[in-house]
Amino acid sequence: MSSKDTPRDNIPGAPGVEPPPVDEPTRPRDPLPPKADQRGPATGSPTGQPTGADPATAAQAGAYLTTAQGARLYDTDHSLKAGPRGPVLLQDHHLREKITHFDHERIPERVVHARGAAAHGVFESYGTAARISRAAFLAEGARTPVFVRFSTVLGSRGSADTVRDTRGFATKFYTSEGVFDLVGNNIPVFFIQDAIKFPDVIHAGKPHPDREIPQAQSAHDTFWDFVTLHTEATFHTLWNMSDRGIPRSFRMMEGFGVHTFRLVDAEGGTTLVKFHWKPKLGVHSLVWEEAQIAAGVDPDFHRRDLADAIEAGAHPQWELGVQTFPDTEDQMFEGIDLLDPTKIVPEEIAPVQPVGLMTLDANPSNYFAETEQVAFHVGNLVPGVDVTNDALMQGRLFSYVDTQITRLGGPNFPQLPINRTHAPVNDMLRDGMHQTAVHRGVAPYRPNSLDGGCPFTAGADTGAYIEAPVEVPASRKVRDAAASFDDHFSQARLFWRSMTPPEREHIAAAYTFELGKCYENAVKERGLRVLANIDGELCRTVAAGLGLPVPEPTVPLADPEPSPALSQLGGRWPTDGRVIGIVVADAGQDVADVRQAVLAADMVPLVVAPTGGPGVQRTFATARSIEFDALLLAAAPGPAADAAPARDAKADPEAAAVTDIDPRVLLLVTEAYRHGKPLGAFGEGSDVLAAVGLAAGGAGVVARDTGAEALGQVAGLLAEHRVWDRFPPLLGGSPA
Ligand code: HEM
Repeated sequence: MSSKDTPRDNIPGAPGVEPPPVDEPTRPRDPLPPKADQRGPATGSPTGQPTGADPATAAQAGAYLTTAQGARLYDTDHSLKAGPRGPVLLQDHHLREKITHFDHERIPERVVHARGAAAHGVFESYGTAARISRAAFLAEGARTPVFVRFSTVLGSRGSADTVRDTRGFATKFYTSEGVFDLVGNNIPVFFIQDAIKFPDVIHAGKPHPDREIPQAQSAHDTFWDFVTLHTEATFHTLWNMSDRGIPRSFRMMEGFGVHTFRLVDAEGGTTLVKFHWKPKLGVHSLVWEEAQIAAGVDPDFHRRDLADAIEAGAHPQWELGVQTFPDTEDQMFEGIDLLDPTKIVPEEIAPVQPVGLMTLDANPSNYFAETEQVAFHVGNLVPGVDVTNDALMQGRLFSYVDTQITRLGGPNFPQLPINRTHAPVNDMLRDGMHQTAVHRGVAPYRPNSLDGGCPFTAGADTGAYIEAPVEVPASRKVRDAAASFDDHFSQARLFWRSMTPPEREHIAAAYTFELGKCYENAVKERGLRVLANIDGELCRTVAAGLGLPVPEPTVPLADPEPSPALSQLGGRWPTDGRVIGIVVADAGQDVADVRQAVLAADMVPLVVAPTGGPGVQRTFATARSIEFDALLLAAAPGPAADAAPARDAKADPEAAAVTDIDPRVLLLVTEAYRHGKPLGAFGEGSDVLAAVGLAAGGAGVVARDTGAEALGQVAGLLAEHRVWDRFPPLLGGSPA
């Protein structure tokens, strides 16, 4: 964590830049600056030129309330009326302007990926890709500003963050040669092989059109109807049912470009690549119950985590890497079709080679202007990066700009501040809704003589984007796909065989839950037929849960080598930005030392006390285990005044009857234990462990004399993300 001097006691999340007074401020002053962790888009012109405008006054200036035209106002609480009890006058321009603008504040949400959160950062190139790409942002030492938006796919803009779904991972690189967008996901394969099916798979995943339920869920009939009839979706669906479908944090997700791209070097030589983002914090997930509780208790779980971590100075980092493949005529690698977006190339046979480091170091200063209005497009490419014939990618090249014309109200959305390139713009596009560039000249056409021939076209030596002149296979027109696209199961089997026992458990439970939520038995039975083609044990486990017969496989089961890189377990990772709950007896208990120790370990301490007070961030009423990665128990607090179900339903009277500890604390600890979180007790905190029947020295449960010692143990356990020994290995699997 770089900045220990985060305002408000080092705890992120303060809404404003300075603590507000209790009484209404009355002395006019200029707008407050943004918070230290926030940054807006660069203040450039629509033509990519730095304007030098001060970001602090670019949107709001002056101490007084004005109309949009800059006229100062003396009252904004009363309409202009014919007398205090009279009717409102139509001439009230301020009233009409205020209400009219409000009436039009909403814009259409994205047709997919509507719910998201974003951050600013920088990408620093190692120069290792300069050999295979002439892109300026991949040159050694190049530093490129970026804006990254993470998202869920299926839910509406107001839906919960922690639902089971694929996550979007879209990066806008503001390079010196124009904008490059890497519009990827946290899953390296896709449901379908051809973009023409995209509307269909999304219609199936979205809420049913009659009742518009369920929201942001795949656990319903139409989703499973689609993915069991289109078995090319099997591998992506398996990723979704794995822990990858419920990430712990955006900061702990891998990102993938999914498609195979073509990089072009300075001599015109080409290399096929797949892009990977590797998080420095490792790849980690929630457990399903935690995800479900979070969806209710804190629907903003992921966006809060991202913003808080950045504000606390725990700036998340990813290494960008590429798998490289020779650009052969058949575009296959080791028998894997590189144009099939439902296939991976295991890292063991094509290692991911690091090419640069991305650090997200600032939160947006305005959600709507930045996160909502950002417009990514797979076709935003720079010299040195080109596309392939992947039919899914080709459809995307059309879809993004098309949808953004509706979503952002016309064709000029590239001029919105967050979308503006940092490279000079001299296009011949003119007019349209919301044109903000004031173009000069009379001849926006080429060639011309009236504007001196401007603008001129560039050549390869002056940085033009020139499509790689690759051969297009001579063939007949067909609506068809290559025969290699027919293998829908072998890589799903590879994935399953690469999982450790707890990961297999989670997958089997996820299929059982999701298919179990379907209404139609036919859909469930078809789901089991698909599973039979992945693995017999998986199929039998899910069939048992559904109470249905076990079908036979319909294809011969492949025997692929496992890919250990696909498992999330078995390593140790930094714990930066992890949240440690410290349970105290009362708001006055001094835990300053352990708080400081948590901060010094680059984590965030949240003190949990019976009531609020200075230095307290959560009370027993407001806290829930899902907020914490680990708990430190500094006391065994007795039942607080509100420890009654009538005041707080978490206060289970049965638990209260058998111990003299506040029942909300017992719930906190038992839930955290069930979710595999480390527990550390010191002082009287050990009594809490005893009250819930946990022995110190058990899996991930420690009791020490001091808070610092307990924290040291807990932090060590947290490096493995969870206490995996608490998840019994019911199913077989690769060792962690
Ligand atoms: C490999 C497959 C795909 C990946 C990785 C992917 C990824 C993404 C991501 C990350 C976003 C959210 C961008 C943001 O944060 O604003 C997005 C949005 C979108 N995607 Fe895709 N997508 C894929 C396939 C497709 C296909 C096949 C289509 C259509 C043919 C499509 C159409 C859209 C549309 C219309 C949006 C909304 C864009 C907007 O309103 O700005 N996607 N996609």
